[in-house]
Amino acid sequence: MILVTGGAGFIGSNFVLDWLADAATGHEPVVNLDALTYAGNLRNLATLAGDACHTFVHGDITDRALVDRLLAEHRPRAIVHFAAESHVDRSIHGPGEFIRTNVQGTFTLLEAARAHWAGLPAPEREAFRFLHVSTDEVYGSLGPDAPAFTEDHPYEPNSPYSASKAASDHLVRAWHHTYGLPVLTTNCSNNYGPYHFPEKLIPLMIVNALAGKPLPVYGDGRQIRDWLYVKDHCSGIRAVLARGRVGQTYNIGGWNEQANIDIVHRVCALLDELKPDAAGPYARHITHVADRPGHDRRYAIDARKIERELGWRPAETFDTGIRKTVQWYLDNGDWVSEVQSGAYKAWIGIQYGPSAAPSADASGRRPSCR
Ligand code: NAD
Ligand code: TYD
Repeated sequence: MILVTGGAGFIGSNFVLDWLADAATGHEPVVNLDALTYAGNLRNLATLAGDACHTFVHGDITDRALVDRLLAEHRPRAIVHFAAESHVDRSIHGPGEFIRTNVQGTFTLLEAARAHWAGLPAPEREAFRFLHVSTDEVYGSLGPDAPAFTEDHPYEPNSPYSASKAASDHLVRAWHHTYGLPVLTTNCSNNYGPYHFPEKLIPLMIVNALAGKPLPVYGDGRQIRDWLYVKDHCSGIRAVLARGRVGQTYNIGGWNEQANIDIVHRVCALLDELKPDAAGPYARHITHVADRPGHDRRYAIDARKIERELGWRPAETFDTGIRKTVQWYLDNGDWVSEVQSGAYKAWIGIQYGPSAAPSADASGRRPSCR
């Protein structure tokens, strides 16, 4: 089995759903440790209710005793670490929680993983992996004509969020070099897709447009991001976990650089097509607002290493991925309403009471969940 942290968040929940749906991995149970901050939503995992392959644990990655207990009890062959504070704007207003979860939390997991790994019998020790999910934002901002970030690009984080992620990447690297912990790190570009919390650019624009609210574009809107459909990120992580070289970092990206203002116009055009507003085009709601302090101008990912070594490439183009995403938000108005009203927090009690995990047999091995 694998231990996933942050598996009730945007990318983590997509990862857990895809893992359990994939023929190659679906038989392998997931223990999902998540503190259910504002960004954690068990509604994302509603289709897994009663699934013996999924054990949800409501807890914090900074809780060393809890992490130790989970590792001892479940003996995961890998930890896939998503849990983080992830929103740049929140990090500007309140950086403390970013240091606590992203730095202290990663440190706690590394220390627990190291103790657990050191005590494993040789074959399990050999197979164990700690996969750290990180971001391209650790590399800083690119000039307009600079080549895209490779894995060797210097770390130049500019926001409290990216600095906290950079710190966690450095810890992961050091735990490999100093202690030999078998780590893998992925640095991915901006994701979009189902279950994306509507504080981030793409879901915020969809939700606000449908509600007839302003579409707030920071500054001139010419800042550039590389956008990747979330399920492609998840397949990239699965490839790195399965075949990545221990101690290596892999950039994951969509080969899809776009300016924010173009993204917003694309979202509006899709809404015009899929859910026309009789009052006029959705783009009439676009409003330029004050820029984000320290706003990085351009991110771009060179994803050739993961393609060369592991044969991974994104399956979706931006056209196919953004269409699926807009359609998902149109089809899942209940999810959006529950997030906006805060009602999704009630899922903690409704959905996951006592653990549905299968117990270990006399040999200590857990029965297959499928
Ligand atoms: P998210 O904010 O949607 O979800 C984070 C999850 O972590 C939530 O479920 C939250 O409850 C949980 N969490 C937060 N603090 C915790 C703690 N102390 N203990 C346990 N759980 C805690 O984030 P996301 O967008 O899904 O990002 C997941 C990971 O991927 C992060 O590490 C992020 O840095 C990285 N990443 C994100 C993007 C992106 O575009 N969203 C791109 C590249 C990398
Ligand atoms: P975001 O989704 O917050 O991701 P990140 O800051 O991690 O890249 O923002 C993506 C881009 O969109 C970023 O350049 C900031 C910009 N943006 C806006 O212009 N308006 C908004 O309301 C938001 C949330 C973001």
